[in-house]
Amino acid sequence: MADYFTEEHSADAVIARLSNCDDPRFKQIMEAAIRHLHDFVKDVEPTMAEWQQAIGFLTAIGQMCDDKRQEWILASDTLGVSMLVETINHRATDGRTEATVLGPFHVEGAETLPMGADICRDGKGEPCVVSGTVRDFDGAPVEGAVLDVWQTNGEGFYDVQQPGDTYEMNMRGKFVTGADGRYWFRTVKPVSYPVPVDGPVGGMLGKMGRHAFRPAHLHFIVSHPKHETVVTHIFVDGDPYLESDAVFGVKESLIVPFVANDDTARAEKHGVSAPFWTADFDFTLASSPT
Ligand code: BEZ
Ligand code: FE
Repeated sequence: MADYFTEEHSADAVIARLSNCDDPRFKQIMEAAIRHLHDFVKDVEPTMAEWQQAIGFLTAIGQMCDDKRQEWILASDTLGVSMLVETINHRATDGRTEATVLGPFHVEGAETLPMGADICRDGKGEPCVVSGTVRDFDGAPVEGAVLDVWQTNGEGFYDVQQPGDTYEMNMRGKFVTGADGRYWFRTVKPVSYPVPVDGPVGGMLGKMGRHAFRPAHLHFIVSHPKHETVVTHIFVDGDPYLESDAVFGVKESLIVPFVANDDTARAEKHGVSAPFWTADFDFTLASSPT
């Protein structure tokens, strides 16, 4: 008798069609995707109208994407999938700086700035000095480490979210460490901000009864030819959203005290006006596999 489709063996019927697939990894991924998808449908037993709604939701996510907006990444982030992939790929707990999500707002090609430069070009926000040292596992300073830094302005917007309304490459810059491994730059104190909610993912969050906020943070990609690149953030200690980050990106080791200062002599030395904030964070890089 022919092997027609049945509810009981639905996944097997589809997986059997992969017998000519000659890419073993692709085959493994597709088999798992089919099995989980069929299990999901059997678990939920959607009505025809609900399935239509699901297709409409996935279509709307794709239609929202362009070179400036990545609604699929946002869906993956807000469902905790980005952080799961990230965590599986960075399991080592050997003292290296922990990684977290890249997010959709990194822009290639930020300018390399002199150490101590101010990345805030729109003057919005509370002045802040961020500094620290990049080290290797032996505690030795890493010379030539590149810190690619980006954050929102004091109003909680990335420059790419306010085209025409802000300075190009506002709140972005690269810094290269010298022999002492030290880095420092001026910026504004990060603020908590909502992930974009004007698309289908925002609708999903609302319907789930979830807020869309990320706790205040500053993004870093720290790289060096002889070390593994780390994509991470530092988070502002005390932020009310640390325990409910909309994208699940917080790790305790990345929470940093931002200290208020009103010492005018110190402010002058750093080229900021008092009162200002300081934050200190050291990075530990793992060696690249040889
Ligand atoms: C961000 O921190 O830039 C971000 C990360 C994930 C989703 C949205 C924004
Ligand atoms: Fe961010």
